[in-house]
Amino acid sequence: MAQTTPERPLLQVTDLTVRYGGVVALDKVSLSVPRGSIVGLIGPNGAGKTTLVDALTGFARSTGEVRFGDARLDRERPHTRARRGLARTFQAGNIFDDLTVEENILIGERRRSAWLSTAWAILSGRPERPRPETARLVESLNLGEVLQAQVAELSEGRRKLVSVAQALASGPELVLLDEPAAGLDSSESAWLGTQLRAVRDSGVTILLVDHDMDLVMSVCDHVVVLDFGKVIANGDPRTVLEDPKVVAAYLGSVIPTVEELA
Ligand SMILES: Nc1ncnc2c1ncn2[C@@H]1O[C@H](COP(=O)(O)OP(=O)(O)OP(=O)(O)O)[C@@H](O)[C@H]1O
Ligand SMILES: [Mg+2]
Repeated sequence: MAQTTPERPLLQVTDLTVRYGGVVALDKVSLSVPRGSIVGLIGPNGAGKTTLVDALTGFARSTGEVRFGDARLDRERPHTRARRGLARTFQAGNIFDDLTVEENILIGERRRSAWLSTAWAILSGRPERPRPETARLVESLNLGEVLQAQVAELSEGRRKLVSVAQALASGPELVLLDEPAAGLDSSESAWLGTQLRAVRDSGVTILLVDHDMDLVMSVCDHVVVLDFGKVIANGDPRTVLEDPKVVAAYLGSVIPTVEELA
């Protein structure tokens, strides 16, 4: 009789560990991200969320296993991981204030291949044309009208969106977003949530790190909670938020209850 085997997750992380000197920033973290989902990664400040994004993308030295589709990525350099379809944003921002929205997105588009020559072409006043897929991305994120504006002139919400667009412009299979809603007001963040769902529906899998619980709870199919470098909860958003271990980890910081979010 034919057996149905569950589809292998797009990302499978096993026992990922990162040490910074004496600090164990990630301690045998295992998690998986199903293809076509939005997985939330939450936890108090210093829990290890950015470290996980750094380790997955090759920016932090780690031990353990990172499987991406059929490939093992844990020994690969950052640019190789990017070429295989892994993109990210940076918590501190990855966009260039002095460049236009279009130029920033072009740099992202070529990140999988010739981004250095693209950056050089832009800096020497010979901008390239975006690919049709990138033009569609720009339209779907409502960035068309500000394409020629300098990023420095934009609202914080729009700037965040440009950094997301830059990561998406490389055409990744999985995008890792490190606090895209930081600095956004609640309506901007709700709007970002709508865009992220549309991105997921277009076939891009998302790992979303954020402290904005409204955003995380409204868009994520699944949530993983880190505390002191360890996974302390993993499951559907509501169950995770009610988990006493999660409530205890957030003690002293602002975390809304399920009722408040309803
Ligand atoms: N480059 C580094 N060198 C030394 N220690 C580091 C480094 N980066 C992070 N750490 C430490 O690793 C731990 C995890 O930090 P990390 O930045 O991953 O947390 P986070 O969950 O992203 O926090 P936040 O919500 O504030 O962004 C912290 O104790 C932090 O001080
Ligand atoms: Mg962080």
